[in-house]
Amino acid sequence: MSDASFEDYLEHARQRADRVLAELLDGAESEFGLGLAEPHLERLTEAMRYSLLVGGKRIRPVLVYAAGQAVNPGVTADQLDHVAAAVEYIHAYSLIHDDLPAMDNDDLRRGQPTCHRAFDEPTAILAGDALQSRAFELLCDLPGASPEVRLALVRTLAAAAGPRGMVGGQAIDLGSARQQIDIDQLEQMHRLKTGALIRAAVRMGALAAGGDADELAALDRYATAIGLAFQVQDDILDVTGETATLGKQSGADAARAKPTYPALLGLAEAQAEAGRLYEEAVAALAQFSGSAEPLRRLAAFIIDRTH
Ligand code: IPE
Ligand code: IPE
Ligand code: MG
Ligand code: MG
Ligand code: MG
Repeated sequence: MSDASFEDYLEHARQRADRVLAELLDGAESEFGLGLAEPHLERLTEAMRYSLLVGGKRIRPVLVYAAGQAVNPGVTADQLDHVAAAVEYIHAYSLIHDDLPAMDNDDLRRGQPTCHRAFDEPTAILAGDALQSRAFELLCDLPGASPEVRLALVRTLAAAAGPRGMVGGQAIDLGSARQQIDIDQLEQMHRLKTGALIRAAVRMGALAAGGDADELAALDRYATAIGLAFQVQDDILDVTGETATLGKQSGADAARAKPTYPALLGLAEAQAEAGRLYEEAVAALAQFSGSAEPLRRLAAFIIDRTH
C-alpha cells in the first residue's frame, strides 16, 4: 500500500465514520416520542452532537473497519457501521468527562471549547452519559448479526469501558497526579485508560466480520501494542506539540503533575518505546496478507501523528 493509497483509505474511512456517527445520532432523537421541540432535550442533543461531530481523528472507527477487513476482505462497511459508531460514542463520552473541571479541567478539545465550556457542566455530564447508553443500544440493533455476535460485542465494549478498562484507568490517572509511580504502574494505567478501548475497537471489528479465535488472538496482540503506543504518543505530544496543532492545551500534563512516559523515561526513551511497540504490533500481523495492510499503516500513523 503506497502512502497515497493509505491517505485515500484513511480519508474515505473517516468520511464514512463522520456520516454514520451523524446519521445514527439522528436516529436516536425521536425515542419515547420526545421530539426535538422539547427545549431541554434539544440542548442535550446539541451537546452530544457538538462533542461527537466537531473534529476528531476517528482512529477507533477506522480501526473497526480495518480489523473487519483484515479477517474478512468481503465484509461490507454497512455490516460494521454500528460497531464503528458505538466505539466512537464511548470515546466521545470519555473525552467529555475527561475534560470536566473535576477531572482534567480543560477548556479546549478538538480546537473548540470543551463541552462543559460550550454548554454547562450538568449538560456535559449528561451528554457523556447519553452517548454511552446510545453506544450499547446501537450494538443491540446491529443489522444482520446473530444474537451471539451482538452479545459478544456488548460484552467486549462494556468490559473495555468499565472499571477494568477505561474508567478504571481514569481512576488511577486521577489518583496519580503529583504521585511517584513507577513505569510498570504507568504502563498499567495507560493500558486501561486508553489501550482497553482501542483493543475493543479491533476485537469488535473482527468479531462482527466473523473472525476466528486464532485471528482474534493475533489481532489482540496487535491492538494491545498500538493501544499503549497511542497513549505514549499522546503523552509525547503534550510535551512536543503546539496547542494550535493539537487542538487541546499542550503542556497540560506537566501543569497538573501527571505521570507520563516523557516525565518518567525522558522524551528520547518514550519515543524509543513507541517505536518498539510499533514493531511488536506489526509482528503480530505476520499471519495476515495484504488484507491487514491498513492495520499496519495505522500502527505507523499512531506513532507518527502530530495531533
Ligand atoms: C485523545 O484521543 C484521548 C486519548 C485517549 C489519548 P484521540 O487523540 O483519539 O482524540 P480525537 O478523537 O482524535 O480527538
Ligand atoms: C485520556 O487521557 C484518556 C481518556 C480515557 C479520555 P488524557 O487525559 O491524556 O487525554 P487528553 O490528552 O486530554 O486528550
Ligand atoms: Mg485525562
Ligand atoms: Mg485529558
Ligand atoms: Mg493527554
